[in-house]
Amino acid sequence: MKSVAVLPGDGIGPEVVSAVLPVLDRMGLPLEFRFGEVGWTSWCETGNAVPQSTWDLLAETDTCLLGAITSKPLREAEAELAEHLRGTGLRYVSPVVQLRQKLSLYANVRPVADVHADRFAFSVIRENTEGLYAGLDFHGLGPALWDVVKDHPNAAATGPELTSATLRLQTQFGIDRLLRFGFEHARQNGYRLLSLADKPNVLRESSNHLRGRLELISQEYPEIETEILNVDALALWMVRRPERFGVIVAENMFGDILSDLGAGVMGGLGLAPSGNIGEHGSYFEPVHGSAPSMAGRQKANPMALFLTASQLLRHLDLPAPAEQIRSAVRAVARARRAVTYDLGGTATTPVAAAAVEKALSGT
Ligand code: NAI
Ligand code: MG
Repeated sequence: MKSVAVLPGDGIGPEVVSAVLPVLDRMGLPLEFRFGEVGWTSWCETGNAVPQSTWDLLAETDTCLLGAITSKPLREAEAELAEHLRGTGLRYVSPVVQLRQKLSLYANVRPVADVHADRFAFSVIRENTEGLYAGLDFHGLGPALWDVVKDHPNAAATGPELTSATLRLQTQFGIDRLLRFGFEHARQNGYRLLSLADKPNVLRESSNHLRGRLELISQEYPEIETEILNVDALALWMVRRPERFGVIVAENMFGDILSDLGAGVMGGLGLAPSGNIGEHGSYFEPVHGSAPSMAGRQKANPMALFLTASQLLRHLDLPAPAEQIRSAVRAVARARRAVTYDLGGTATTPVAAAAVEKALSGT
């Protein structure tokens, strides 16, 4: 029996969780679901976006299913935040950032599949901890950084005070574990091609390093073909020929962009699942956020959460129910049943979830 922490979160998160969880429950999976609090609502109520009870829950469970959270408060909410700040001096730190950092979840996995026609299926794996988002971002440069950039003509014309710089951090530790993760993912899911998104003709030194590690590690996976593509070309191909891809691996920023593009290629945020995985922990969440303007209206598409649950089940080594859920979502999508507003229909969240449950039982 495995256990899953369920964190519904904010906005449409609780709505899709209350539609999907009962369906999972009735499948009779060998799983125990335990609920916890996370997010903006939790922060407003307790002054803590991830309360200690949730950290305890995460330590006691095998993985986590998250609905959606408000990671950056909207304007009205920010006023409320300021109110809080006066009282507590605390700042709201996005819970997903906290989870990724504390649990060192270095790989963000986004399966991208054509649920309507089965034309393509691939995964985008984004590095989560370094690259251009390592946090080494400076405005107004001190002497050490200025010494590095001062010969650039634009910098020379501007001066250190009005120049910004961001370092793209690439460590061999980070590169190797990401590449190995990508190859293992390809092996486990039967993909024959691993494409590395980079920009070798511009970022020569760091790209050379990456190429060297790819060449070395790929020898451990002789059945998987590899290629290095310029990130811009890769984006074009993802739209034009998504069927050519298997696993796409990318540093943090390239991966951020490509993974959202993947959600678009799939048909939108209402369909896109994701997982964040590390050596000792993981959590799974739909790609979408809390969609505050839509919250409370039971209009959100629950398919992204169903597909996220399917990804979670595969991670817990339960491939049969994972495949059942995936097939049910595809059957509903293909029959154009229970279509929510984002895909041009009028079905509500519970109606869409009920259609998946019906497809699950094969009736
Ligand atoms: P969002 O993903 O919440 O919504 C963007 C658009 O997609 C909206 O038009 C929404 O109506 C639509 N949409 C999203 N999910 C949908 C679904 N299941 N069914 C139908 N339509 C759906 O992104 P937005 O509005 O930029 O952010 C809202 C809040 O969510 C912010 O606080 C943001 O920081 C947070 N957020 C959190 C993420 C995370 O937890 N990883 C990811 C993205 C946003
Ligand atoms: Mg993003």
